[in-house]
Amino acid sequence: MVQFTEDKINEVKAIMARYPEGRQKSAVIPVLHLAQEEFGGWLDVPVMDYVAELLSITPIEVYEVATFYSMFNLKPVGKYMFEVCQTGPCMINGCDDIIEYIGEKLDIKPGQTTADGMFTLKTVECLGACGYAPMMQLGKFYKEHLTKEKVDALIEECRRNAVANN
Ligand code: FES
Repeated sequence: MVQFTEDKINEVKAIMARYPEGRQKSAVIPVLHLAQEEFGGWLDVPVMDYVAELLSITPIEVYEVATFYSMFNLKPVGKYMFEVCQTGPCMINGCDDIIEYIGEKLDIKPGQTTADGMFTLKTVECLGACGYAPMMQLGKFYKEHLTKEKVDALIEECRRNAVANN
C-alpha cells in the first residue's frame, strides 16, 4: 500500500498550506516530486492516485501533470539518470554525438536503463543552460560542455560512488 510516513505527510500539509483554500491542486508538482523521491524514483499509477487522494483532486489531474513534465519518471529508472538536453543549441554543439556515445558505452538507448539498474539515459528539452552546451542533468547537478572524455569520467565517478555507498 502506498503511504507517506508521518514526516512526509507533514511536508505535504506544509506544501498545501502555501496555497489558498480550495487551490490545493497547485501543490501537485511539489507533492509529485516528494512522492517520486520517496517511492523509488518514479511514479507508478497507485502513487499518482495516492497524490490525487491527498490533494482531493481527480487522478486524471495528476496524470496530466506527471505525463507532461520530463522530470517525472513513469517507469523505473537507474540509480544515476543522464538527462541529456537535445534542444537546438545543444544539438548544434554536438549533443547527438554525446547521446550516441553514452548509449554505446552503456549499451542502452534513450529511455532505457542498464540491466544492473545503475544508469538511465534520457533525452530532454532545453534545461536553460544553453550557454554551456552540450549539457545534461545528473541528479541535482548540471554537467556542462560535455565531451566524450567528460562522459567517461562521469560514468567512472558514478560507478565509484555506487561502490562507496554500498
Ligand atoms: S538547448 Fe540545451 S540547455 Fe538549452
